Amino acid sequence: MTSVPAVPPRLSPQQVRDLFDAHRTTRRYKPDPLPPEHLDAILYAAQRAPTDATAQMYSFIRLTDAGVRQQVADLTVNPHFATAPESFVICLDVHRLRLLLERGGYERGHFPAVAVHFGVGDAVLAGQSMLLAAELLGYQGCWIGGVLTNLQELVTLLELPEGVLPFAGLTIGLPDESPAQRPRIQRELVVHDNLYREPEPSELDEALERMAPITARGDWAQTLARYFAPGGSMETREVGLRAVLARQELGNG
Ligand SMILES: Cc1cc2nc3c(=O)[nH]c(=O)nc-3n(C[C@H](O)[C@H](O)[C@H](O)COP(=O)(O)O)c2cc1C
Repeated sequence: MTSVPAVPPRLSPQQVRDLFDAHRTTRRYKPDPLPPEHLDAILYAAQRAPTDATAQMYSFIRLTDAGVRQQVADLTVNPHFATAPESFVICLDVHRLRLLLERGGYERGHFPAVAVHFGVGDAVLAGQSMLLAAELLGYQGCWIGGVLTNLQELVTLLELPEGVLPFAGLTIGLPDESPAQRPRIQRELVVHDNLYREPEPSELDEALERMAPITARGDWAQTLARYFAPGGSMETREVGLRAVLARQELGNG
């Protein structure tokens, strides 16, 4: 292990804010490919992410074949999978963990729910490190939860073995659009002092108001309902995800 000397702060608080203010989820990209040294730095950053138990329970499927990219774009209903300079499916992976244990003469225990907890955490940390590194290099990107839309077909297409589950896609490239910055709810609702605090109705109203600009009709509750209310898209995804969790021997396996 290399020892790393303590480093002084490299950015001021304002520079850190500016950096995160520059983030925009971007779905349209210029066609320019990433230079190999940029891609290398992005993948390096991904693997430097903290990882639970140092187990690195994730895999990235890098999509380079035009046919596969198009099929993934169609299955996920996210066309930028096909058009982005770089496209990945970010997976949790406890399959390789099993192989490593077996190689060392051990078996993997039975912990399908914990595997999802650890694997999703690891995959998200690595994927977000990848995106942040890309943004530091001047690119933008988009996480794609649309992998859940036709999850069975995606798992089959990518030949994912037992223990591997797509968490999301990630596309990266030079932006060819300039979306407005998307708001966030107020900090008081997400940071709790010592004990969980239920929000006041007026604070919920303020959150809905703050987020209204991202919606076509100025009604964020309606937008949330399309995803999360009874009959919303998440209930459909729930059925597909449960089936794939069983197939991949995860979660409820
Ligand atoms: C896990 C995750 C899944 C997402 N899935 C999709 C997706 O399937 N399609 C898409 O266009 N955007 C997707 N997004 C992007 C969000 O819509 C975006 O982050 C959000 O609107 C906030 O915008 P901002 O990132 O520009 O601040 C996803 C983001 C995350 C973190």
